[in-house]
Amino acid sequence: MWHTWRAATERALYGEEGFYLRERPSGHFRTSVSASAAFAGAVLALLAEVDAELGKPDVLDLVDIGAGEGVLVTQVLEWAPPALRDRLRITAVDLSPRPPGLSGRVRWSGEVPDGIVGLVIANEWLDNVPLDVAEQTAEGPRLILVDVRTGEERLGGPLRPADRAWLERWWPLTRVGSRAEIGLPRDEAWASVLVRLRRGRAIAIDYAHPVDNRPLCGTLTGYRDGAVVTPVPDGTCDITAHVALDACAAAGIRAGAISTTLSTQRAALRELGVTGARPPLDLARADPRGYLKALARASEEGELIDPSGLGGFGWLSQKR
Ligand SMILES: C[S@@+](CC[C@H](N)C(=O)[O-])C[C@H]1O[C@@H](n2cnc3c(N)ncnc32)[C@H](O)[C@@H]1O
Repeated sequence: MWHTWRAATERALYGEEGFYLRERPSGHFRTSVSASAAFAGAVLALLAEVDAELGKPDVLDLVDIGAGEGVLVTQVLEWAPPALRDRLRITAVDLSPRPPGLSGRVRWSGEVPDGIVGLVIANEWLDNVPLDVAEQTAEGPRLILVDVRTGEERLGGPLRPADRAWLERWWPLTRVGSRAEIGLPRDEAWASVLVRLRRGRAIAIDYAHPVDNRPLCGTLTGYRDGAVVTPVPDGTCDITAHVALDACAAAGIRAGAISTTLSTQRAALRELGVTGARPPLDLARADPRGYLKALARASEEGELIDPSGLGGFGWLSQKR
């Protein structure tokens, strides 16, 4: 059964019996959310900043897109000071079923709500938005088709004009045999978020590559049980590809963003006070248990800002 990668991934991840409708993400890969609660602490700090910028509205939205198991919103809700918590309207957006035991304060939805006033966060969502893959041939770029049972690939037809235009602007293919992932569906997904943001900030966090340094053969990858596997779109593994966040940023601007910052997780989290600094040695004598706790926290923070790991993720922040 031959399909385009976009159609095959859509079915494998979100179709009937799809990977995300059956599986819990934390069983298969580690994200910043699962790596450390310090990530939720940083999101809470951001939320407080946005709240102040908006003049402390009566209702402040926190929308988590691709919320997975709802861990991030649960932690933010738990730690928010009462004066903020009481005004929070939390929406966790995911295509998977509502996780059991989630607080009644959290609305679980398959769609991004309209008229958001507050903060939107999308941690490792865009890399799971299915896309097509193209390969350069002597006659120009062609779509790649995949056998959904084996992952075997073959060349398909030429590209739609919109896909071809996207490649020319965002991922020019120069060499025969080089491959690109056509990020247009992600641009559209991100733009649809900006359109729904009335006032506030939207932040997308993902492994990303810039237009002047796209990988020669693309980044399509599979994950199963914590290990990297061949991406076979048969519903038994996650299928992901790094994100052209610069293209998403441009789409966000077209959709109404009035300011845009594209940086790394390391830079963004350090600004929010996540430094990975070790506790002072004096604490080890005065409060040995407190010292060990602080040391563990420092090591988790270190993982979040490690430039060769999670710290190297792109942070796209846009305001309306
Ligand atoms: C890699 S997981 C990230 C989970 C969580 N944000 C974290 O950081 O641990 C991606 C999540 O995005 C969800 N997802 C993908 N496409 C979606 C869409 N169009 N609408 C809502 N959720 C989506 C998947 O179901 C999955 O739970």
